[in-house]
Amino acid sequence: MGVECETNGGPPGVAAKTVSGPGWAEVAVPASSGNLGAGFDALGLALELRNTYRFEPSSHDHIEASGKFAEFVPRDVRRNLAFRAFRSLAPTAAGPYRLHARRIIPAQGGLGSSASAIVGGLVAATLAFDLEVPQDELLRRAAELEGHADNVAPALLGGMVITVPDGPDLPWLRLEFPAAVGIVLVVPGYRVPTHRARQVLPEQVPRADAVANLARAALMAGAVSHGRFDLFREAMTDRLHQPYRSALNPALEPCMAAALDAGAYGVALSGSGPTVIAFGPRDRNLSVASSMSDACLDSGHSCETYVVGAAAEGAYPTEAWRTRTRQADL
Ligand code: HSE
Repeated sequence: MGVECETNGGPPGVAAKTVSGPGWAEVAVPASSGNLGAGFDALGLALELRNTYRFEPSSHDHIEASGKFAEFVPRDVRRNLAFRAFRSLAPTAAGPYRLHARRIIPAQGGLGSSASAIVGGLVAATLAFDLEVPQDELLRRAAELEGHADNVAPALLGGMVITVPDGPDLPWLRLEFPAAVGIVLVVPGYRVPTHRARQVLPEQVPRADAVANLARAALMAGAVSHGRFDLFREAMTDRLHQPYRSALNPALEPCMAAALDAGAYGVALSGSGPTVIAFGPRDRNLSVASSMSDACLDSGHSCETYVVGAAAEGAYPTEAWRTRTRQADL
């Protein structure tokens, strides 16, 4: 099915006044881990754990969901972030849509599930309506909807992304994350909503803490670029957010200690938590994972453990979309 319609001027940054396209889209968008320790609101890494978002014309706007975390997908189209993001770019004449979200990224886990939804909706709109939206514009829109950029940037671009969050331009730099590094995620059974985890942060911080973090965030970017995994432990040590969030994340300290004892290079709270992310040699993945999950259980909290890779690619159209659009072009 195809659509052709006027955009009523279209959103800023969208090149075409008249748009056409297949009218439907399905995209796979990675999870992400923000902060990476000292890089509060500035560093983020895409993870190979993907939700998919499929938008199709329908008789009325509605939302369906599947996957392990389907119950967390808001069914109200005004509250659903993927749907809102899709509509913010879709031509007004596009008509009603059905969204099917397949959700496997843990909800409220500090793994960028809302960023995945926002990026999914925006990228799906560009594919469905053949919109030419520059990547910088997609990133700005996504960051505006999310409120911070460190998850939406890797969800859109893949790899590890440094974003500069103040000001309108949102400069960014993407780095390849070394494939040799194993990644372990421990997701404790309690949930920490991001807005709550941001409320506990002070408005002002001591200069010594700011200096300690800016040096370490820069060190992390350098350590990733140069393959200096021996520097991860120092580079991921944070003084700006983790100390204030530890009361909301009671398993953090035991999990961090266990990861380092088991040979991890470095470990941190993932985003605002509660997930704890550890980087280590790949051949130590299983021992790091079991030490961390034992520590979490010993602290009185259930958990799930994932061993994942870094996602080099950000949001992309699924094979189903590529195949069907290729066939339609023949
Ligand atoms: N940088 C954000 C925070 C990430 O720490 O609040 C939220 O996942």
